[in-house]
Order: sequence, then structure tokens, then C-alpha cells
Amino acid sequence: MLVLGIESSCDETAAALVLSGSTILSSSVASQIDTHHPYGGVVPELASRKHIESIVPVVEDALKKAGKTPGQIDAVSVTQGPGLIGSLLVGYSFAKGYAYALGIPWVGINHLEGHVNSVFLTQAPPAFPFTALLASGGHTGIYHVVSHTEIEIMGQTRDDAAGEAYDKVAKMLGLGYPGGHVIDGMAKKGDLFNIPFPKPYLDKNAFDFSFSGIKTAVSRYIQKHTDTFSDNIPDIAAGFQESVVEVLTHKLIMAAEIKGVNHVAVVGGVAANTYLRKRIEGAAAEKGLSVHIPPPELCGDNAAMIAATGYHYLKKGDRSSMDSDVFSKVKVK
Ligand code: KG4
Ligand code: ZN
Repeated sequence: MLVLGIESSCDETAAALVLSGSTILSSSVASQIDTHHPYGGVVPELASRKHIESIVPVVEDALKKAGKTPGQIDAVSVTQGPGLIGSLLVGYSFAKGYAYALGIPWVGINHLEGHVNSVFLTQAPPAFPFTALLASGGHTGIYHVVSHTEIEIMGQTRDDAAGEAYDKVAKMLGLGYPGGHVIDGMAKKGDLFNIPFPKPYLDKNAFDFSFSGIKTAVSRYIQKHTDTFSDNIPDIAAGFQESVVEVLTHKLIMAAEIKGVNHVAVVGGVAANTYLRKRIEGAAAEKGLSVHIPPPELCGDNAAMIAATGYHYLKKGDRSSMDSDVFSKVKVK
């Protein structure tokens, strides 16, 4: 089954052609970073307008790269939510119209399930069941993954998402937007323990997260050292990253142990973080767990993961109806 995936939940317009839920024929992503960069974050109204401009060229690009024509597509899978309503509506309405015009089935997909299924686009996907850490700009959670479509939440952030904390700290340090990648690079030049920040485990035995406290601690440090903090940016970045990564690693490994699984996965934009990858690989090796992390281009928002997830719903016979709508907040399917 050849599935066209469409993703437009935040600031990336993406389309992909994926065969049988696992083989990527093409994956096209139009990023809006340049549009939002001057504002230090995503401006929803600008995001919607950019999606409208990009959706047709991105779908055409995905078809061209895959060497396919619209008539060869068997079904369409599109992000239904969570995300920015105006952004989601562009992809969702396009997908409805496109599938209707072609006379093929289509299905709306939960973006978070899409991230979890991104590991099935890699050479060595995990066997079920496994524990997944999803850390992105909009969400942070731990999931017990029973099958492609049975994904149980074990814990999630109570305030900021991990990626959001990276972005906010980067902004405070004057490192631009989005900040995850820059802090990742900057932290390599710093000392992990020179400037320690709190490690918010909350309950050490539970799986909820809270990252707003670390962000506030960084802000206080900057206020207290107004004249000197700019000389210590690598150490601040490294200290901040040590706190975030330590908590994410601890909770993922603990969740896997409690569930008695043998495999863990890390997905979402923050899964591209080199220090997080290293720490989780180290901690998992100590416990004899196999680690599955997609390559960076599949960690960030993309449509291949939406096509891969949709394939499994479509195979079960799931279809979305013309009067269905997008949703902004996490909804249990
Ligand atoms: O999954 P994603 O592309 O979009 C959402 O669904 O939110 O994640 C974007 C987030 C941003 O907050 C970005 O700063 C973060 O992922 N990110 C990183 C890295 N690369 C991207 N965070 C830490 N280290 C990185 N290398
Ligand atoms: Zn995402």
C-alpha cells in the first residue's frame, strides 16, 4: 500500500510517500524557521499562511522525488492533532480534498503516535512491547507501546515540553530560535558540572516531568550574573542540558524496567540531541536494553511518520469522515 503522508501541525509543511508503513520513497519538508526566527518562536498566523503557500509544492515535490503520479497513491494519512489549529487545518483540508478527488481512502492521525511510529522507518525497529520517550517542542511523555496503534501514556510534562525549555533557554542566552540544536553544540564546549541547575524528578518513582523550574533557574542565574554570564554560556548550556538529559534518561530507563520490556525508543525533535542519545545508550546498555533512535531527519516533524502510522490504521479498516475536524490538544483516540 502506497500512502501519502501530510503533516502541518506546527511550523513544518511536510509530505511523504511511504510503502507498506516502512519504506520511505520520498520525504519532503518545507521548514518555516526563517519566517519565525525574528520573533523567537512560532507565530501561529504566519505559520498558517506559510502552510497554504507550501502545501501544493511540497506534495508535488514528494511525488516527483518518489517518481510517482497521484494515480499510484492508495491512501492519504494526515495529522489531525494535536497542534496549532490554523496550521493543522491547512494539511487536513488539503488531504480531505485530495483523497476525495482521487477517490481513495484517507485517515486522520495523532501527531504523537506519528512520532512514536517514526522508529519503524529505521533499519532495525524495536519489537513490541517497548517503552518510548517522546521529547519534542510541544510534548514530552513516556509511553508503553504495545502495537503500532496501541500506545499507552505513562507520564507527561506538567508544564513546558523539553524542547520548549531548550528553546526558551536559548532565547535567554541570545542564541536564537529554535534553540535545541545550538545548545547541543554549545554544551559540548562547556563543563557539565560547573554551573549546576535543579534536576526536577518530581516523584522519582513516577513518570511526569516538569521543566519550567530549570528554565526559571537559568533565568535567575542570568539575572544574578548580568555582567558575566555571557562569558559562561557554554557552561550554562552544559549545566542546563545535564539537568534535562539526566531526568529524561532516568525516567525512560525506570519505565522500561517497571514494564519489564527489553527495548526503548527515543523520538521527537529532542531525540536529535547528541548528549541525550549518548546518555540513553549508556544507561540502556547497563540494563541490557536495546535502544532505537531515528536519524535526526526523522526525529523532527516529518510526514513519513504520519504515512507510516496511517498505514496501520488503514490496514485495520479505519477511515476518517468528511465532517471530522482537527484538534489542538491531546485526545485519546
Ligand atoms: O518534533 P519537533 O520537530 O516539533 C514538535 O512536534 O514540537 O521538535 C522540535 C523541538 C524544538 O524545541 C527544538 O529546539 C528541539 O526539538 N530540538 C532539539 C535538538 N534539535 C531539535 N533539542 C535538543 N537538542 C537538539 N539537537
Ligand atoms: Zn512533533
